[in-house]
Amino acid sequence: MSAYKPQASDSKATFKHDLFKGKVLFCTGGRSGICYKIVETMMSHGVDAAIVGRDAKGLAESAMNLEKSTGQRCLPTSADVRDPKQLEKAVKDTVDKYGKIDFVICGAAGNFLAPITSLSSNAFKAVVDIDLLGTYNTIKATLPYVRESHGSYLHISATLHYRGLPYQAHVSAAKAGVDALSNVLAVEEGPRGVRSNVIAPGPIGNTEGMSRLTPKGWQAQNDIPLGRMGDTSDIANAALFLFSPAANWITGTVLAVDGGENHIRQLSLPYPQSLLDPESVKGLIKGKL
Ligand code: COA
Repeated sequence: MSAYKPQASDSKATFKHDLFKGKVLFCTGGRSGICYKIVETMMSHGVDAAIVGRDAKGLAESAMNLEKSTGQRCLPTSADVRDPKQLEKAVKDTVDKYGKIDFVICGAAGNFLAPITSLSSNAFKAVVDIDLLGTYNTIKATLPYVRESHGSYLHISATLHYRGLPYQAHVSAAKAGVDALSNVLAVEEGPRGVRSNVIAPGPIGNTEGMSRLTPKGWQAQNDIPLGRMGDTSDIANAALFLFSPAANWITGTVLAVDGGENHIRQLSLPYPQSLLDPESVKGLIKGKL
C-alpha cells in the first residue's frame, strides 16, 4: 500500500480574495524562494508590499513580476539587514509610498554547509548577523509603525535546531535566537496590540536552499509523515492564516510547517562517517562543503 500524499492547496480555495485589502506588508528576503511566494500570495489577497534585500536589480525584477501577477503595488527597496541605517531608509521609503506598515516578514537568511572545524569566526558571525541581528534590526526599524497599526510580525525560522544537525552550527544558533526573539517581542508588545509568530518550514521543493543543501538522491517520502516535499504554497497558506484576523489571539507561537518531518527526522548524511571522513560525502552534497 502506498502512503497518502495530501496535495498543496491554492490559497483562494480557503481565504477571501480581499482578505488584506488596504494593508501594507514589509518583507525582508522577498526577492526569491519562500518569501517571494508568501508576498505574492498576500498580494493576490489585496496587500501592497515592499520587498527588501541586497540585490537591487533582482529586487526590481521580482517587484515587477509580483505587480504583474497580482495587480497590487510592490516597492523594491534595497538594504542589507545587517545595517540598521539601510533598513531605516527602506522603512522610510515604504512609509513614504504607502503611509503605514501593518505586517512585517523577517525572512532574510544565509546558509551553507560547514562543520565547526571549518567555520571561521567570521563565517559563523556572517550567518548570525544576517538571520538574527537582521531580524532584530528589522524589528527595531519597523516597530513604531507596527504599533500604530496594531499589526503583526512573522519570522521565517527552521526546524534544524530542534536537534543537533551536523554542518549547521551557525544556522542552528541563529534560528534558535530568532525563535527566542519572537517570543520576547510577543510578550513585550502584546499589550500594545502587536503580535509576533514564527513559521518553521521543513524541506520545501524548488527553493535555492533545498537544491544547494540536500544530499543528492534524498527521497522526501521516506522521511516525511505527510509523504511529500513541501511546496512554497504550504508556507504561504500558513502565513496568510497567521496574519489574518482568525489568528487575532495567536502570538508567541512557532508553527512548524513540515509535514511532520521534525518528529521523525533522520540524518540525511551517513552518521558518523560524514564527520569522521568528510571527503567521503563530498560527492553526496550539491555545492561546496
Ligand atoms: N564554508 C565555510 N565558510 C564559508 C562558506 C562555506 N561554504 N561560505 C562562506 N563562508 C565564510 C567565508 O569564507 C567568510 O569567512 P572568512 O572571512 O573567514 O573567509 C564568511 O563566511 C563570510 O562569507 P561572505 O560570502 O564573504 O559573506 P557575505 O556576507 O557576503 O555572505 C552568505 C554570507 C551566507 C549570504 C554567503 O555565504 C552566501 O552567499 N551563501 C549562499 C546564499 C544563501 O545562503 N542563500 C540563502 C538560502 S537558505
